[in-house]
Amino acid sequence: MGQNLALNIADKGFPISVYNRTTSKVDETLDRARREGDLPLTGHHTPRDFVLSIKPPRSVIILVKAGSPVDQTIATLSEHMSPGDCIIDGGNEWYENTERRIHDASQKGLLYLGMGVSGGEEGARFGPSLMPGGSHEAYNNIKDILQKVAAQVEDGPCVTYIGEGGSGNFVKMVHNGIEYGDMQLISEAYDVLKHVGGLSNSELAEIFAEWNRGELESFLIEITADIFKVKDDHGEGELVDKILDKTGMKGTGKWTVQQAAELSVAAPTIAASLDCRYLSGLKEEREKASEILREAGLKDEVQNVGVHIDKKRLIDDVRQALYASKICSYAQGMNLLRSKSDQKGWNLNFGELARIWKGGCIIRAVFLDRIKQAYQRNPIWLVWLLTRIR
Ligand code: 6PG
Repeated sequence: MGQNLALNIADKGFPISVYNRTTSKVDETLDRARREGDLPLTGHHTPRDFVLSIKPPRSVIILVKAGSPVDQTIATLSEHMSPGDCIIDGGNEWYENTERRIHDASQKGLLYLGMGVSGGEEGARFGPSLMPGGSHEAYNNIKDILQKVAAQVEDGPCVTYIGEGGSGNFVKMVHNGIEYGDMQLISEAYDVLKHVGGLSNSELAEIFAEWNRGELESFLIEITADIFKVKDDHGEGELVDKILDKTGMKGTGKWTVQQAAELSVAAPTIAASLDCRYLSGLKEEREKASEILREAGLKDEVQNVGVHIDKKRLIDDVRQALYASKICSYAQGMNLLRSKSDQKGWNLNFGELARIWKGGCIIRAVFLDRIKQAYQRNPIWLVWLLTRIR
């Protein structure tokens, strides 16, 4: 992601220096910069050369694993930085770590931003959604760059100054919680259509592609339609049926649910999606349980339901259920953000958050425009939206 973000920045005409402690990665980035149009990018093999290659006041973006690697990187780089320079952490960091680092950086006269970056490697290269929080002065120093580098939608670039402290990381964390919810809802819709409706992979691909032309239009629905069409290169049929139904996670979804509990905010969809990830991990136990249930005749019961099903009606019911659940899930995320904003005095602008999620990020979806509009009409309550969205 770091390499791609650097190439994106250079591609927009901003000269950039890059550094990685693995020398070959620096050389690889230089090679790509040459191949992708002689982009204004220079590579450096030591932290000192890297920092000194930038004209003060410097803005240094770091993209390393969250937690102690960030502290180590800051320690290495800040040795060569001067007061007024800024460090921008683009990882999925716990917001309190960012607040601690803002304080530590200020002791050395350095500015600090914790910036959520969404959209994966592809987004980083061609337009991510960016959620910077922390020093407003630091944001103003790189605002022009961020606005060019971010995904562009009809109502502007997908970046805005989020607020003080760790607000940028917190907003990205909730974005990820919503992402977990979206993925879970799509999985459940798939499960009902496949196991109750008996739809084949090619029918599923068509249904999801059709849904993606309506109110459900979004990145995750779009790629779901594509996934059903991928053939298994090593055997018969489609790859989706060969994927191990077992997942882990990096932590942001868990933090979202922990924060919801902490703030007494109901987030049942996001919590259920986290629970399902844990359950998916119990592969052996689930296989044993399914054997017992099959022996007790449960499989036949489900198959018999399928025989009498009105497929067209089922597909439409699932589509509407998915849309309604998605609205509830986003409302849960937004309510959590409202509660945290009140607690911390961040003064989050919810309409703006919905706007910068319209492009570039994993949860980008057409219906975020309606959420944005609802918040523009009423900046506090999303509940109001639920009566208006129909
Ligand atoms: C993004 C994604 C990305 C990743 C998360 C969640 O916005 O680009 O959210 O950050 O998908 O790290 O990963 P897990 O599902 O493994 O927790």
